[in-house]
Amino acid sequence: RASALLDRFGRTATDLRISLTDRCNLRCTYCMPAEGLPFLAPPALLSLDEITRLARIAVTEFGVRQIRFTGGEPLLRRDLVDIVRAVASLDPRPEISLTTNAIGLASRAQALADAGLDRVNVSLDSIHPDTFAAITRRPFLDRVLAGIDALGAAGLSHTKINAVLMPGINDHHAVDLLEWALAGGHQLRFIEQMALDADHGWSRDSMITAAEIRARLGERYLLTPDDAPRDGAPAELFQVRALEGSDGGGDGGPGGRMLGLVGIIASVTEPFCSDCRRTRLTAEGAVRSCLFSHVETDLLGPMRAGADDAEVADLWRGAMWDKPAGHQMNEIGFAQPARPMSAIGG
Ligand code: GTP
Ligand code: 5AD
Ligand code: SF4
Repeated sequence: RASALLDRFGRTATDLRISLTDRCNLRCTYCMPAEGLPFLAPPALLSLDEITRLARIAVTEFGVRQIRFTGGEPLLRRDLVDIVRAVASLDPRPEISLTTNAIGLASRAQALADAGLDRVNVSLDSIHPDTFAAITRRPFLDRVLAGIDALGAAGLSHTKINAVLMPGINDHHAVDLLEWALAGGHQLRFIEQMALDADHGWSRDSMITAAEIRARLGERYLLTPDDAPRDGAPAELFQVRALEGSDGGGDGGPGGRMLGLVGIIASVTEPFCSDCRRTRLTAEGAVRSCLFSHVETDLLGPMRAGADDAEVADLWRGAMWDKPAGHQMNEIGFAQPARPMSAIGG
């Protein structure tokens, strides 16, 4: 498409991530400081109509096919069900997904599914209450688990669980978390921590790498790369089987019965930037061409000043043309963006 979102390195953005708020009801150490941040006032956020308009531009002008709502915590938007319904009525209808901590999902999963939500990814770093509370600085594990249960009841399958592993905090529980996810039929993805923490305390040496995750899981399971095409997805998928000699089961395949899939998101040590298909909007309506961009392009100001769709689309295209080649976390002189993950939109 001549009008697609292209960048100077030849990538085309077909996945849109829209942050709906910079607020969150958790305070995960790798994402937000304990005291919170100076949050945006409600009038500064994209409204339901503005979100719908931007989503329509993305779908009709750029050929975007997937839209994911993030935050902050998107469930904190009281109009989330209306947002999903409005975006689901676009033509062509995009696939609609949500990345959430699942708090409050128990009472809204069915309404979201009815409105057109297709898939949900839940952030959950530990199923041990004390570890959960230490990472999130809130004792809400039960609410998260209730939210995850509600997804199945609402007919939302294909739930993925995102876990950031941190040394000495939750890395020794990786196998517990995997067993829990396999038992529930969820696809767990282990994520390398990126330099997007509010305290700017990240260092290459203080993170668990994908190689370490594979080695640790390999002590208990046979992991074999899944054959499905990766299609620019951040996660590399592995089939999980019991090791030879342990509880084999046996429906063929080396090592016995397939127990499920596990994903590893190796943003730092095995970057996938050259295949990136993402464009992002912050909660206040600016384009971020990359998680690690140092510039943002405001669309909301021009929209509120009367810009038409063609003008908004041109600003968006211009912002994406300048998308950086990659995150540079492995380069000397890497500079972490000023905003932490919660303010960018995960
Ligand atoms: P699906 O594969 O479509 O289910 O979604 P996703 O994995 O792209 O989205 P999700 O919001 O679940 O993100 C999972 C993790 O991937 C996040 O926690 C980030 O750590 C990482 N991630 C998401 N988007 C990006 C990105 O643009 N760049 C990098 N480097 N990592 C990302
Ligand atoms: N590094 C990697 N992933 C992160 N997330 C938040 N902060 C970071 C970080 N610094 C993840 C959360 C959630 C998603 C929105 O982003 O675990 O799953
Ligand atoms: Fe894409 Fe930037 Fe993420 Fe790399 S870091 S995958 S370029 S958004």
